[in-house]
Amino acid sequence: MCGIIGYIGDKEKKKIIIEGLRELEYRGYDSAGISVFSDNELHSFKTTGKLINLEKKCENFSSSGFGLAIGHTRWATHGKATEINAHPHSAEFSNIVHNGIIENYAILKKDLEKKGHIFLSQTDTEVVVHLFEENLLHLKDSTLAFKETIKALKGSYAILLITKKENDKIFYAKNGSPLIIGTDGSDIYFASSSTPLIGLVKDVCYLEDGEVGYMDKNNFKSLKNIIPLSGTKISSQKDGYRYFMEKEIYEQHKVLQDTISSRILEDKIELNLPKDFLKDINSITICACGTSYHAGLSAKYIFEREAKIKTDAIIASEFRYSNPIMRKDELFIVISQSGETADTLEALKLANKNGLKTLAVCNVENSSMVREAKYSLLTRAGIEKGVASTKAYATQVMLLWILGIYIAEIKQSISKENIKKQIKNMNEAIKATMINPKIHDRLKKLSKRYLHGHGFFFIGRDIFYPLALEGALKLKEISYLHAEGYPGGEMKHGPIALADSELFTISLMPKHLLFDKIKSNTEELASRDATICAISQEIIDIADDMVLIDKFDSYMEEFFAMMIVLQILALEVAIRLGNDVDMPRNLAKSVTVE
Ligand code: G6P
Repeated sequence: MCGIIGYIGDKEKKKIIIEGLRELEYRGYDSAGISVFSDNELHSFKTTGKLINLEKKCENFSSSGFGLAIGHTRWATHGKATEINAHPHSAEFSNIVHNGIIENYAILKKDLEKKGHIFLSQTDTEVVVHLFEENLLHLKDSTLAFKETIKALKGSYAILLITKKENDKIFYAKNGSPLIIGTDGSDIYFASSSTPLIGLVKDVCYLEDGEVGYMDKNNFKSLKNIIPLSGTKISSQKDGYRYFMEKEIYEQHKVLQDTISSRILEDKIELNLPKDFLKDINSITICACGTSYHAGLSAKYIFEREAKIKTDAIIASEFRYSNPIMRKDELFIVISQSGETADTLEALKLANKNGLKTLAVCNVENSSMVREAKYSLLTRAGIEKGVASTKAYATQVMLLWILGIYIAEIKQSISKENIKKQIKNMNEAIKATMINPKIHDRLKKLSKRYLHGHGFFFIGRDIFYPLALEGALKLKEISYLHAEGYPGGEMKHGPIALADSELFTISLMPKHLLFDKIKSNTEELASRDATICAISQEIIDIADDMVLIDKFDSYMEEFFAMMIVLQILALEVAIRLGNDVDMPRNLAKSVTVE
């Protein structure tokens, strides 16, 4: 999704901005731009496509000495991904970059047009910089004009603005979209996520909604809540893998160890979550988007089965506007890799407003959701670069499983033996994510048979249904083939009408959970000539193709083993189709607009 970088200082500004933008590249974008203000001149460069194009465009430009710079990677919302629509946007003497959506831009634009402003782009952002200049005309003071401008905006934004009227200040505003200001003790850096700042700055301030002002080299200390920025720069190498996604699939057994570390002991679970907080809850609502929603749906099965607690999993964008019934004895969990997804964040704010007990299951420390929720549990997957989530998902499911057993223990709905068994299964499930090279080879070969047809059904039952949804999502995200996940038992209520040999069914057939049921559902499809690819530890006679997983003793081990198969299948199909696996078309890693 859109990324912002800003800089005030003496270093080579172009280099700092482009390197910062490169750190945000994996999040997905379709155009990029940069503005440097030095020697009283504003220099702007914009291009469509990848950063390499921007680098080429400004290769002959450099600036020495003190100056200001802002840069942006854009994921199109208002207006196509063209050079004109790329940020920074300019008016006469000011430039702006913006993440988010200005909802009332059309009215503002009309007004400004009447006053003689001419707009070049189709974006909502361009309005803001014109409004600033219009306000400055009357107010004669840049800070007042900027604040007045921000007051007029409805919607979500993280904004940086530079103007020729102020040669040492960057104006900023934040509402709904993340924005961080950091310093190394001398220079000032801005970014829309902490990743580009790691290693560059010592202290940061995560701006709160409603904060608006300006920053120069001397007023960093006036910010509220300055904290040190921890973390070391992770290697951005693929370590011999073809794609980050592949590397992340292979990392899963390692990061899952981190997820359970110090949380599961031999016969009990310890979470940094007060028991009092969970004691009186009578139901759970889980809210999330995309892959994180699928992890949430899996948790529903675990929470209800083990903790005997009524659980709903809801897509965040649906939750927000449905006038949801919220009870004070309800635990409200948001799940998010990034901790910034706009719909999930807003759902969390709604729950907080209604006095619910809120908990964020998240991969990013200090993210908006972690800061907003009453409590948080970190998934510890490390930075995930592939847009299609893999290791973050695995750690979410594992952490939610741990949480389920923890709640069950507090609610006394689980026996000591079962806790021990669950813990053993968790350890075994991690082993099940160690990738057997034979299975990867098998999937590589198999993938060539699944490049055509008129669609895929991924089917599963119980907790394997959300896994089927996730398998279908992985495939469609990176292969652009049509895939749907379905509960096995539901196929006969409509979808089976599509069955023929060109309909590929990926059937998740765990030996230890409803095996006979899913077998019948698969047979129903096979007898209507659908092409069946079964994933199971049992040989399935009716299948056209089989991916035989190792022998496991519990269904959760089978779950994690099948998860790996689905991820690799999607990866290999996408590679054969020649797609950009790490940055699939139209997608963004973190969606900070609703
Ligand atoms: C985007 C990503 C998905 C992700 C979803 C939720 O759509 O492309 O991979 O699952 O956002 O993101 P979150 O960071 O909240 O887990």
